[in-house]
Amino acid sequence: MNVIELSGVSKHFGKIKALDKVSLTIKEGEILGLLGPNGAGKTTLISIMMGLLSRNDGKMTILGKNADTSWKDIKKNMNIVSGFSGVHPSMRVDEFLRYYALLYDIPKREQRMKEVMALTNISDKKTQQVRDLSAGYTQRVLFAKALLNKPKLLFLDEPTVGLDVEIGLKIKALVKRLGQEGTTIIFTSHNLHEVEEICTAITLIMNGRIKKSGTVAEFKKRSHKFMTLEITCLDVQKAAQKVKKYAKDVRIDGGTMYVDTDEKNQQAILDAVIKSGSKLHSFAIVEPTLEEAFLELVRKR
Ligand SMILES: Nc1ncnc2c1ncn2[C@@H]1O[C@H](COP(=O)(O)OP(=O)(O)O)[C@@H](O)[C@H]1O
Ligand SMILES: [Mg+2]
Repeated sequence: MNVIELSGVSKHFGKIKALDKVSLTIKEGEILGLLGPNGAGKTTLISIMMGLLSRNDGKMTILGKNADTSWKDIKKNMNIVSGFSGVHPSMRVDEFLRYYALLYDIPKREQRMKEVMALTNISDKKTQQVRDLSAGYTQRVLFAKALLNKPKLLFLDEPTVGLDVEIGLKIKALVKRLGQEGTTIIFTSHNLHEVEEICTAITLIMNGRIKKSGTVAEFKKRSHKFMTLEITCLDVQKAAQKVKKYAKDVRIDGGTMYVDTDEKNQQAILDAVIKSGSKLHSFAIVEPTLEEAFLELVRKR
């Protein structure tokens, strides 16, 4: 089932086209990484899908329901964690969660509060004031709040911004687990290593338009015109001399050489190594990171 179907969605702020005919489908259980440079339209898109902003044009179906006529139903099944949204500093953690549980009209309120505190590992902070918590704990309180209504659809707008690595890891593990449990997640982050690790699909948005959608592997593959080969052989110095003319760059590190080349020269390089008479041990393509693939796509513009 598609959890989200957008077709031709546009949003203007005066002369600024924040979204320009965006069409997008997101399947159930997917963790979609929404990528794009600052000002690309990510937050605007999330705000529209959350019903926080109206759109100027286009159709929107969420959780199988028409967003114009069934908003009340849809809203019950979604939630958001934003790296920038504040908690109420003078409230205690349990008071903060109770406040939202009341707002959402959660059945078996105290029980569900316990569950979400356990899920996010904040049970021991229950009676502390939010203002006394570290950034990492504050963010987990926001996750706990977002899980209160057992959302089928969860938006995460830079949820790990400003967090240290260790807390970022815990949040990543939580997001992964929610995904495995069938929650559909839409995730934005400037940390592409994080996106690469968590997301099952990626959509790249630039200047309010969808530039590319696909799996992480597909994103990386498309940037494979240029590749780096990792070659180990008995005499790398000798082999390096022979492959030079097919390569953009050759770097030697111990018994290994890294050869930057065009995809079409891959076979010629392999042949050259073999012909050099230097016994070949291994020959592999080094996968670009998502970050490299992303930068290549963004710089093309
Ligand atoms: N409330 C607003 N009023 C005017 N312009 C806005 C508003 N919100 C966003 N924009 C503009 O819309 C574009 C997309 O912004 P945004 O969705 O916040 O991008 P992102 O989240 O990808 O950084 C930007 O040019 C931004 O300046
Ligand atoms: Mg944003």
